[in-house]
Amino acid sequence: MILITEPSQSPLEGELTPPGDKSISHRALIFSSLARGESLIEDLLIAEDVAATASACRQLGASIEISGDQTRVLGTGDKGLRAPEHALDMGNSGTAMRLLAGVLSAQPFSSELFGDESLSRRPMRRIVDPLSRMGARIETSPGGTAPLRINGNPGLHGIDYHLPVASAQIKSCLLLAGLYASGRTCVIEPQKSRDHTERMLPVFGVQLEQPCCISGGSKLIAADVKVPADISSAAFFLVAAAIVPDSDIVLRNVGLNPTRDGILRVLQAMGADIDVGNHRIFGTEPVGDVRVRYSRSIEGISIPEDWVPSLIDELPAIMALAAVVPGTTRIRGATELRVKESDRLSVMAQGLAGLGVRLQEYEDGIDITGGAVQGGEADGVGDHRCAMSFGILGQVAEGPLLVRGARQINTSYPGFVQHLLALGGNVETRAASPPA
Ligand code: S3P
Repeated sequence: MILITEPSQSPLEGELTPPGDKSISHRALIFSSLARGESLIEDLLIAEDVAATASACRQLGASIEISGDQTRVLGTGDKGLRAPEHALDMGNSGTAMRLLAGVLSAQPFSSELFGDESLSRRPMRRIVDPLSRMGARIETSPGGTAPLRINGNPGLHGIDYHLPVASAQIKSCLLLAGLYASGRTCVIEPQKSRDHTERMLPVFGVQLEQPCCISGGSKLIAADVKVPADISSAAFFLVAAAIVPDSDIVLRNVGLNPTRDGILRVLQAMGADIDVGNHRIFGTEPVGDVRVRYSRSIEGISIPEDWVPSLIDELPAIMALAAVVPGTTRIRGATELRVKESDRLSVMAQGLAGLGVRLQEYEDGIDITGGAVQGGEADGVGDHRCAMSFGILGQVAEGPLLVRGARQINTSYPGFVQHLLALGGNVETRAASPPA
């Protein structure tokens, strides 16, 4: 799929509720599939990544019925998971693969997890090494990547593990394996990564010990989860409204978990006109409504490195913003961006440079000096967040912008184009021509 944008002739206006949070949706499906009894999930994200988790959970024995915004999951409970008949397809989703690998390592059966081209390039030793220390038996491809062949071992034992990077996927993988291991599994992080697993496990009846330890043998009991709107999807419209002249939009039910809200802090520090109100709680997750208005006084800043884990997925959108506001935005401590769905530092740098943006790429970050952005072409290379970031930039470019490699927008935000149009944006889609 290709996105074609034209500079917006009119402001973005109106309100919308972005789709359900992807990280919380994966966890709600996995935990309810393990639990005894029927769980109700409200506002689950309906998108390809979460569909991969749902399909895997079904093959492992859970019954999942999705009807509108209500999802009912009958968990496998005491009888346990069943051996899947086929290898499990994780699609584009690192979260699905890494979290399920933790669960499957501890089962009395073997299984295999594979993914698409992008996921098959992503590093898996970061979970395989600590899981192996717990007694797991997992084979990867020679480069330490998927497919993962898991020879399940119900005799795992707990470990204390210092994460080499702040990663909620590794942390959650180990906590899930720790659920089945003997003794205690503790994860110590260099910086705090998103804490949805720690917040949601107690809802399913599993108590964690501080700071991040789990004792083996706890059983999950069905629970209800209301999924907040994804701040990572809201990010594109937060940026769009900040840069399209005279815009004024409201995004409803946005997840405001402090381990995820770094983009709001960055926008505020840059001088954006943002109001967060109607604060409330969905289960254990804080949410609110965010109003953003266009502002002339936004300027580039140096983003403090310790904010990076709380805005890691929003950095492509922040780079698009940096490309059009005066001054230089400095991002460092973001090496992890190189191992996401694409090498996001390089993909954004190449795309922005091709549109005439002044920038300097570093191993762990980038400096971007804002100015006029030409139209032309940018390649999202099949990375949903890069493609949507270029799509937003196209609203203020000097001419039409064609964004290639945009099909994977469906992994996290299938309604992105409709939502942009509903707010008054200028975008259309075209099928990519098949390779010659
Ligand atoms: C996620 C954690 C982050 C994030 C990803 C979702 C999660 O990855 O980038 O999109 O749901 O746990 P890492 O754990 O690799 O940092």
